[in-house]
Amino acid sequence: MKVLVTGGTGYIGSHTTVALFEAGHTPILVDNFSNSTPDVIETLRDMTSPNLIFYEGDVSDIAFLQKIWDAEKPEAVIHFAAKKAVGESVAEPLLYYRTNLGSLQTVLETMQQNHCDKLVFSSSCTVYGEPDVCPVNEDTPQKTAESPYGATKQMSERIIEDASKAIPLHAIALRYFNPVGAHPSSKIGELPLGVPNNLIPFLTQATAGLRDKLTVHGDDYDTPDGTCMRDFIHVMDLAEAHVAAVEFLASTEASFTVLNIGSGSGNSVQELIDTFEKTNNVKVPYKIGPRRNGDVVKIWADASKAKELLGWQTTRSLEDSMRDAWNWQVALSKKA
Ligand code: UD1
Repeated sequence: MKVLVTGGTGYIGSHTTVALFEAGHTPILVDNFSNSTPDVIETLRDMTSPNLIFYEGDVSDIAFLQKIWDAEKPEAVIHFAAKKAVGESVAEPLLYYRTNLGSLQTVLETMQQNHCDKLVFSSSCTVYGEPDVCPVNEDTPQKTAESPYGATKQMSERIIEDASKAIPLHAIALRYFNPVGAHPSSKIGELPLGVPNNLIPFLTQATAGLRDKLTVHGDDYDTPDGTCMRDFIHVMDLAEAHVAAVEFLASTEASFTVLNIGSGSGNSVQELIDTFEKTNNVKVPYKIGPRRNGDVVKIWADASKAKELLGWQTTRSLEDSMRDAWNWQVALSKKA
């Protein structure tokens, strides 16, 4: 299938591009480099094909998107392009609503206009808020989102569901848990612009001596070791879930499906640091700091629906993720 990948040079987009290519599909990338850099294109061409197609621009621009459609006629869309920093979304809510909801609207309208009926959407476990019980399944009641970022994911799912009832559309919202790690080749990985908000890029940069100590945001939570718990999933497992989702859309009658995409295990921030140190034989410079506003205490996935519908499940361990994340940082440091 020809698959338009919005946000194709970002962290999850770039890994999904490789997975799509390896599964025999033709990814067509679009990105405006708001949180990535142009050199990712050359790396991806090196990893896939020199003919990998890329368009630079903003998917909120309907005329730009229509031009891509005229030229490429994609059969499916994986829509990653969005802003994702929780703290920034609290400071700049209007930017988040405009960017995340506006781009989705443009993508859906352009799909409708061009009779493209297959959409995979990047949703997030953030839609659950703070769950009463873990693991969460897709029917776990949603709480009020903790941040405007989280609200955009809840609203996006609603927009897609409403559209799927009214127009020819088969859509899947993949609710990602916490993606970590990098491609095992160390050619691509997570490289946020500026100071990282997320745990792993900050941890690897601090361990490489590029940042001050990592601050663990709170060790007095109601968890076995007091630090927050998450479901860390290797980014290549996540990438492969997108391939399975696109292929599922080619055969399903369902108009709208939501799926948890996680490993099914909860690990604490402290466990993650310990695993990183043990796997890579390094010391992570860190200190315990205060709690971070808006953090969920613990969440992990029941991902059995994805296994049942997509035949997909994770195959990589937390150790694999920690090894690949560190190898990527080492490769980056060498390049610099
Ligand atoms: C959140 C969302 C996730 C979203 C992501 C986007 C939830 C449950 N998850 O992930 O859906 O895709 O933001 O950015 O809402 N931590 C530290 N020190 C740091 C950084 C993080 O201790 O410097 C801790 C956090 O307090 C948290 C854990 O590490 O307990 C994971 O944090 P992070 O990597 O930022 O991801 P989430 O906040 O879980």
